[in-house]
Amino acid sequence: MSTEKIADEIKFAYWVPNVSGGLVTSDIEQRTGWDFEYNKRLAQTAENNGFEYALSQVRYEASYGAEFQHESTSFSLALLGATERLKLIAAIHPGLWHPAVLAKFGATADILSGGRFAINVVSGWFKDEFTHLGEPWLEHDERYRRSGEFLEVIRKIWTEDNVDYRGDFYRIHDFTLKPKPLNTPERPNPELFQGGNSTAARNNGGRYSDWYFSNGKDFDGVTEQLDDLRAVARAHNREVRFGLNGFIIARDTEAEARDTLREIVEKANKPAVEGFRSAVQQAGSSTGDKKGMWADSSFEDLVQYNDGFRTQLIGTPEQVAERIVAYKKLGVDLVLGGFLHFQEEIEYFGERVLPLVRELELADRSATV
Ligand SMILES: Cc1cc2nc3c(=O)[nH]c(=O)nc-3n(C[C@H](O)[C@H](O)[C@H](O)COP(=O)(O)O)c2cc1C
Repeated sequence: MSTEKIADEIKFAYWVPNVSGGLVTSDIEQRTGWDFEYNKRLAQTAENNGFEYALSQVRYEASYGAEFQHESTSFSLALLGATERLKLIAAIHPGLWHPAVLAKFGATADILSGGRFAINVVSGWFKDEFTHLGEPWLEHDERYRRSGEFLEVIRKIWTEDNVDYRGDFYRIHDFTLKPKPLNTPERPNPELFQGGNSTAARNNGGRYSDWYFSNGKDFDGVTEQLDDLRAVARAHNREVRFGLNGFIIARDTEAEARDTLREIVEKANKPAVEGFRSAVQQAGSSTGDKKGMWADSSFEDLVQYNDGFRTQLIGTPEQVAERIVAYKKLGVDLVLGGFLHFQEEIEYFGERVLPLVRELELADRSATV
């Protein structure tokens, strides 16, 4: 069990549906859209329903159920322009961005949005995406070494002048970024998230990032990751916050929620799920200790491609709220939600689930004073 301070209120983020096909690889009806108009309204709904963050996805070409994709940083910037409080976390690949170029883009995006820009550094699983672009596909732990340098460099560029850096992947010579991104009371520079769960990812999270994103996990899985992550962070005199992915199916009755899950899995697009399973062997399964993402995922887990069913946020509003608060007590600072019918379910979440979460948190605080 973690000894770190538990925040008063758990935070919420949602997956921006900026790629087509929805968040489950299934032929079940998904009332969602990947176009800008849909996303603009969704982002506005989300910020009015208790969501503090939105995470856009990076994908450069068609793959396993995602035929069309909008680019993550530009799409995030457009959503920042359409909202007032929502923070946008744009997913980016170190192998395809130079850190100083992204630092420049990020500073402008942050200033334009009043300090609401963030990035999620992802190290990749989709080999074809790199090889089709003529870029080298590094072996798993080398990708993470590059991501570690990337995180270190971009923070330096955002916060220091005359940056010099001599790494194996990046070299910076006396570089000063002007203007810098905003330094707000909440954070000194755009927040750095990192997505990945292998030992290499835990090391990078603990050493360099502000946030660590976990795939869907049960209570034991979260505890195991948190223990590792916080040991690394403590060894470097740092604190890192923990975001957990979960596919949320909240319905008036538990039976309805369970039936929805059953239908999603029954109608899974099997060739696409199997294709994805074989592509993600490039991730955690390719490491020595086999600790990373998808290393032990079942067919059902992979129908939600970030293992979102494992978090089991499935049931009535009361059941989902209780489980969220139980995760919070383990040390989870943020839940990253995926939904089947985004617009209507984010509204339902804000009206029916979130108030229960806040009530339970208040009750816990009152009980401990
Ligand atoms: C919350 C989250 C979001 C992610 N988003 C993306 C993404 O948008 N594009 C992408 O290619 N990979 C994404 N990834 C996957 C990573 O690139 C990486 O392949 C995966 O985390 C496996 O890492 P591991 O081997 O360290 O477990 C994401 C991972 C997490 C946890």
